[in-house]
Amino acid sequence: MTNVGPSWTPDQLQRDPHANPQKATRVQSMFSAIAPSYDLNNRIHSFGLDQSWRRRTVREIANRLGSLRDKKILDVACGTGDLTELLYAAGANATGGDYTPAMLEIAKSKSRKFSDFGLRLRYLDADATQLAFDNASFDAVTIAFGLRNVSSPEKAIAEFFRVLRPGGTLAILEFDQPRSKFVRFFHNLYTERVMPFTATLIARDRSGAYKYLPRSVATFLSPQGIAQFAAASGFERIQHHSLTFGTCALTLATRPLV
Ligand SMILES: C[S@@+](CC[C@H](N)C(=O)[O-])C[C@H]1O[C@@H](n2cnc3c(N)ncnc32)[C@H](O)[C@@H]1O
Repeated sequence: MTNVGPSWTPDQLQRDPHANPQKATRVQSMFSAIAPSYDLNNRIHSFGLDQSWRRRTVREIANRLGSLRDKKILDVACGTGDLTELLYAAGANATGGDYTPAMLEIAKSKSRKFSDFGLRLRYLDADATQLAFDNASFDAVTIAFGLRNVSSPEKAIAEFFRVLRPGGTLAILEFDQPRSKFVRFFHNLYTERVMPFTATLIARDRSGAYKYLPRSVATFLSPQGIAQFAAASGFERIQHHSLTFGTCALTLATRPLV
């Protein structure tokens, strides 16, 4: 689908997009516009690494919980469902939730191939900052490349704490800025100059999504900032894994038993 117009103007992106009062609706219209080519762009522009980062997320949660078999896991901001599917494939009872219908539709159509779609794998409309689930109803909550796009990450993390059972695990996968100046130079060249051009062409995008992407990473919380919000919500055992030269970070945290 080619979208009707820009979700982000160059002027808005020059400022901090996270401070934009219409961030939620702009993010939603942007993902509606790029949904059909979202997976293809991910694979091409991460050289397939995006799936390896999601697989690492699944392994680290399994390490914390013992096993994923029959564990109830909520994948927030699930988009087209790549992480939700991996959680399901690892044996979990996986629920993907997102607030962009176009992304959820793709997730659902990809999942119809699974025999127990609708039972052990399901997708629902869900807002990360206002989850319609009972307290303590999940063994794990995941969010991959989603927290940066949420209007209030602080509110979302407090919601993740609420819906997790005591002892449950939170996993946040998000882009990061490489520490090494050398890596950072080439990484920035790629994410700020090459990728916005090629991804925009592939998606035939007019929303500005692939210009928003590097800008939203540069202006977002560091893993340490995410950890501070998690600690403030009550999480403990907060741990980071830096992935692929620091271009991505996985933050894990546990809801205390008492
Ligand atoms: C970059 S995509 C990530 C999708 C998927 N998790 C992945 O690994 O590819 C970000 C997703 O966050 C969703 N999103 C942003 N804010 C949200 C919110 N408040 N509640 C639910 N989903 C949200 C968008 O609709 C979009 O599908």
